[in-house]
Parts: sequence; C-alpha cells; structure tokens
Amino acid sequence: MLQKIDHIGVAVPDIEAAIEAYTQLFGVGPSHREVVESDGVETVMFEVGESRIELLGATGPDSKIAGFLAKRGGGIHHVAYGVEDVQGSLDALAAQGMQLLDTRPRRGAGGKLVGFVHPKAVSGVLTELCQDDPAAAGHGG
Ligand code: CO
Repeated sequence: MLQKIDHIGVAVPDIEAAIEAYTQLFGVGPSHREVVESDGVETVMFEVGESRIELLGATGPDSKIAGFLAKRGGGIHHVAYGVEDVQGSLDALAAQGMQLLDTRPRRGAGGKLVGFVHPKAVSGVLTELCQDDPAAAGHGG
C-alpha cells in the first residue's frame, strides 16, 4: 500500500534562513515553493534522490504548525508516504481502527491529494499519505 517515503516535513521558524541552509547542504536550490492557505503554511520542496525534504514555515499565528513551532522551535514535523490511492488507504486504515486526522483526502502542496494519520496511532509521528492527482499532472511539488 505504501510505495515509498515521498518526503519528510521539517517545520522551521525562519523559512528564508532554512532555504539558505538546505541549499548549502544539498548544493542545489528548492524545486518548488508554494503557500497552502488552508493550512497557513509555506512549503518549500528540495529533491533528494527519489525522495524529498519539505520545509514548512508558518504564514501567521493561525498556522497549523504554529503550536509545533511554539513548543519545539522547529524540527521534524511529519513523514509522508506515497500511495496510489489516498482514499482507499485511509479507508483501509480506518477499518483497522486506526485513528486518523483526515477521513477524506484534501489538497496539499503541488496539487497532491493528502490525508493524515493521527500521530498517537503511529508512535508519535504525524504521518501523511500523499498521491499524485492525475487531474493536476505536471505539477512539481
Ligand atoms: Co508533507
């Protein structure tokens, strides 16, 4: 069901400083940058082989990552797995009694369809399932 680790999300208090640091680390700049208004986050993607690192910065005090940043000051925020069918995967996990944050897929960065598993269900790690949306093919992130 899970095909690969699609990306690891890293919450950062200063997105510009983080972009600079990760550009130095990888020797190449980000491939995609996008504000996801519904989550109050700016996402910046760096390609790393077949996987990616997603930097997450808050766009305001109501950001979904504001609490995380206030508590931890940044760090690994979530692990995202690529799946063929987010809805099918969420349904299969729900049928096993797993606690989910999303029962329906929603739109993430890069036009992907995403759904989140509650961190309490999987050893304290916020877990994202993501799927390339055929309708948005050609988008990078
Ligand atoms: Co993500």
